[in-house]
Amino acid sequence: MARHQSAVFAEGTRAHHHLEFTIRPDTGPAALADALVGVRAAGADHISNGGVNLVIGFGPNLWSALAPDRVPPGLHDFPGYHNPSAGQHAPATQADLWLWAHGSATDVVFDVVRTCTTCLLPVAELTLDQPCFVYHDSRDLTGFIDGSANPDADDAAGVAEIPAGQPGEAGTFAMTMRFEHDLAAFGELRVDEQEKVIGRTKPDSVALPADRRPHDSHITRAEVADAEGNELQVYRRSVPFADATVQGLHFVALGADLDRFDAQLRAMYGLDDDGVVDRLLQFTRAVTGSFWLCPSADDLDAVAPLPEGED
Ligand code: HEM
Repeated sequence: MARHQSAVFAEGTRAHHHLEFTIRPDTGPAALADALVGVRAAGADHISNGGVNLVIGFGPNLWSALAPDRVPPGLHDFPGYHNPSAGQHAPATQADLWLWAHGSATDVVFDVVRTCTTCLLPVAELTLDQPCFVYHDSRDLTGFIDGSANPDADDAAGVAEIPAGQPGEAGTFAMTMRFEHDLAAFGELRVDEQEKVIGRTKPDSVALPADRRPHDSHITRAEVADAEGNELQVYRRSVPFADATVQGLHFVALGADLDRFDAQLRAMYGLDDDGVVDRLLQFTRAVTGSFWLCPSADDLDAVAPLPEGED
C-alpha cells in the first residue's frame, strides 16, 4: 500500500510558512531532480530541524512532466472564479511547486524554508513567500474559530487521500488561496451580525440553527453535496498571516479530488443557479489561487529519491 506524505496530516503545529515557485523554462531535468532531492532531504531531516513537517505539492504541468504515469485523473490548473456583476473575483495564479513547512516554532521552520529555497533558487523563481501563524485557539483574524467542521485526525486521510487502486493513490489534491481581509469593516458589525456572516457563534463556534442562519452565510455556501446529497468534505488547514498593515488568511484545503473545491467556490462566488454570493466575501478578497497534487511518499521517491539513510 502506498504511503501518504505524513506531513499533510500532522496537526498541532503553530508556525507555518508557505512558499510557491515557478520552474524556469530553461531548467534541465538533472538540475531539477537535484533541487527536488535537496528539498526532500531538508524535509526528512527531522533530528536537526526540530520536527518540522514539510509538505511538497506540484502544479499540474510540472507533475505531468515529471511523472506522466502517476498523474491522477482530474488534475488541472486553478481556473479562477469570476462574477463581474457581483464584483467578485478569485484570480488564478497557478505556480509549479508549493512547499508548506509547519512546526512548533518559527526558528526551526525558518531553517527548513531557507534550505529549501537555497536548493530551488538556481532552477526556479519564488512567487509566494508567506509566513503564517496559528492565532489563539485556531481562530481566523476575524475572531472566529476556523476548522470546527473539519474531520477528526483519524478521518482526515479518508477525506483527503486519493483512494487505493487509482493512479496517484495515497496522494492528496490541495487548494491554496491567499485572502486579504478588511478587518476594520468586519469589526464595524455587531457580533450577532458577524455571526450571521459566518453562520456560527463567535465565542464557541456553534452552528446557528437553520432558521437563524442566512442563506448567504459562509458555512451555508461552503457546505456542498454530490448529486446523491452526500456532503463533499474537505480537510482545511488554513492559517492567518499579518503585518502592521495587511492581514488575512492563507486558505489551505485538502481533498480526494478537485471537484469538491470547484463546487465550493462556485457556491461562494455566486456561480450556481441561485446566484447567491457568500457574504464573507464582502470582508475579504482572494489574491492568489492554485490547485496542487501532493503525491504519495512512494511517488515522490520515484521522481526525487531521498539520499541514502534519510527517510
Ligand atoms: C478568508 C477566507 C475564509 C475564512 C475567513 C473562512 C472562515 C471559516 C470559518 C470561521 C468557518 C466556521 C468554522 C469551521 O467549520 O471551520 C468556516 C467553515 C468552512 N469553510 Fe471557510 N473560510 C474562508 C474561506 C473558505 C473557502 C475559500 C472555502 C472553500 C472553497 C471554505 C470552506 C469552508 C467549509 C467547507 C467550512 C465548513 C462548513 C460546514 O460544513 O459547516 N472556506 N470557514
